[in-house]
Amino acid sequence: MNKKISLIGAIVAGAFLAGVAQSALADEAAIAAGEKLYKRERCETCHGGNLQGSAAFPNLLTSPKTADKAAFSQIVLEGKGAMPSFKANEKVSKGIEELYAFVSSKRAAAPK
Ligand code: HEC
Repeated sequence: MNKKISLIGAIVAGAFLAGVAQSALADEAAIAAGEKLYKRERCETCHGGNLQGSAAFPNLLTSPKTADKAAFSQIVLEGKGAMPSFKANEKVSKGIEELYAFVSSKRAAAPK
């Protein structure tokens, strides 16, 4: 292959890989921030440290609402039955994307 072309190819591939690495890092940062919220804002007192819930509280690893950002945000912000509304909790309402990133990553990693 022509040297110039292979150099250009290497630059393009390098830029692409840097972009992939950067977005993976951004995802990891969001997931880590979401995990902190999950613990600090007491989601875990009801849904458990492992997200598996209990007889009274839904399992977040299998809930379809943890695979749908709109449904997730709706129930977390508005609440439902014994699930409190977190709309007035600024950390949760501002961190809803991170919280979703954390919960959905756990769901994706859970054995099916
Ligand atoms: C006081 C206990 C309690 C706390 C704290 C709590 N939840 Fe819940 N959560 C529930 C209950 C009960 C339900 C089921 C509500 C219903 O459908 O009637 C639920 C439902 C959900 C659902 C929907 C699951 C489904 O399949 O319907 C999601 C998602 C969820 N909670 C996420 C969270 C997150 C994230 C937090 C922390 C910001 C949190 N919950 C804090 C009790 C709680």
